[in-house]
Amino acid sequence: MIWQSVLEKFKELFGSEGEIGVYFAPGRVNMIGEHTDYNGGHVFPCALTIGTYGAARKRTDKKIRFYSLNFEHLGVIESSVENLKPEKEADWTNYPKGIMWAFGEKGMSVEYGMDLVLYGNIPNGSGLSSSASVEVLTGFILRDLFGFDVSNQDLALIGQYSENKFNGVNCGIMDQFAIAMGKAGHAIFLDTATLEYEYAPIKLENAKIVISCSNKKRGLGDSKYNERRSECETALAEIQKVKAIHSLGELTEEEFEEVKSAIGSDIRIRRARHAVYENQRTIKAVKALQNNDVTLFGQLMNDSHASLRDDYEVTGLELDTLVEEAWKVDGVIGSRMTGAGFGGCTVSIVKDKAVETFIEQVGKAYEEKIGYAADFYVVEIGDGPKRLY
Ligand code: GLA
Repeated sequence: MIWQSVLEKFKELFGSEGEIGVYFAPGRVNMIGEHTDYNGGHVFPCALTIGTYGAARKRTDKKIRFYSLNFEHLGVIESSVENLKPEKEADWTNYPKGIMWAFGEKGMSVEYGMDLVLYGNIPNGSGLSSSASVEVLTGFILRDLFGFDVSNQDLALIGQYSENKFNGVNCGIMDQFAIAMGKAGHAIFLDTATLEYEYAPIKLENAKIVISCSNKKRGLGDSKYNERRSECETALAEIQKVKAIHSLGELTEEEFEEVKSAIGSDIRIRRARHAVYENQRTIKAVKALQNNDVTLFGQLMNDSHASLRDDYEVTGLELDTLVEEAWKVDGVIGSRMTGAGFGGCTVSIVKDKAVETFIEQVGKAYEEKIGYAADFYVVEIGDGPKRLY
């Protein structure tokens, strides 16, 4: 068991006395609804059974000791609850530190330190939200160790707050929400304008969800993510001069076509068009699923990719190659990039009997064209965070 080896490592590094808790928080994949969550639109993500494991113990002083089995070369990184600020040398620990800081900002000051050992089996920088997974996990651990009165939805909001304000990425709520609120076998249809949500069962008869990882690393912070977000904000402000709306997510396709001439640049028209059409596509996709029309769901996934490639311009050669090669395989119901883009992963729905061919064919074509290999994962939809021990 993975969690047992995390606990063993904890005991080896920090001793076995006192109460040690072992926890898990998932990663997530978004089925459709990309770059809509900061535009007041809908998303449709699900939690995975891969994620981050953590062993933790409360301390009686202010010290924090961090260790990650994914970054063993960094050794034990120390900090203090009295000194919670982002630091380059703090590396990955800026995520858990950010959560401890955010709890304080929300009136739940963390008075004592802790020892924490993490291990994640989400491929790093893959766009499956390893950082949001660490954030939600840390919040879950703080709640458990210190007895804070917060719901799982609060843990998602605190995670987003710390990502925005501590780690400097203007992300929306999707990743942390999908992780904190995950439910096995279900995707979450979330309206990011109101945080109203519904669980939708994902019953894929004779098909699997396959993640293809481009192995092109994506650092959100240095990517064009914040730039896309501000392009959408400018487009919204331009539209607001002619129509009273609060977000691009309020517009139907027809309404957008009527007001788009208010947007002052072709690039911003394309960015806003993606946000509007992708939101409508997400609503249609969930309806299709409710009607058991997986073929239409797949087609909408394909359309989503084309819009992210042509209008939003967040795909790039690696993701386009994975998706375009996937589309060629008989038995692929739908395929698109997932997450922020600029590298990371694609998500495909593939008929059981085609999975092997898919991995072989897409893998071969990718390596030939890109020069290095992609990785493939057949994934299951899992639950939100939990205490394992
Ligand atoms: C990243 C962000 C999310 C969302 C996606 C794009 O994963 O963290 O909030 O904006 O990109 O859909």
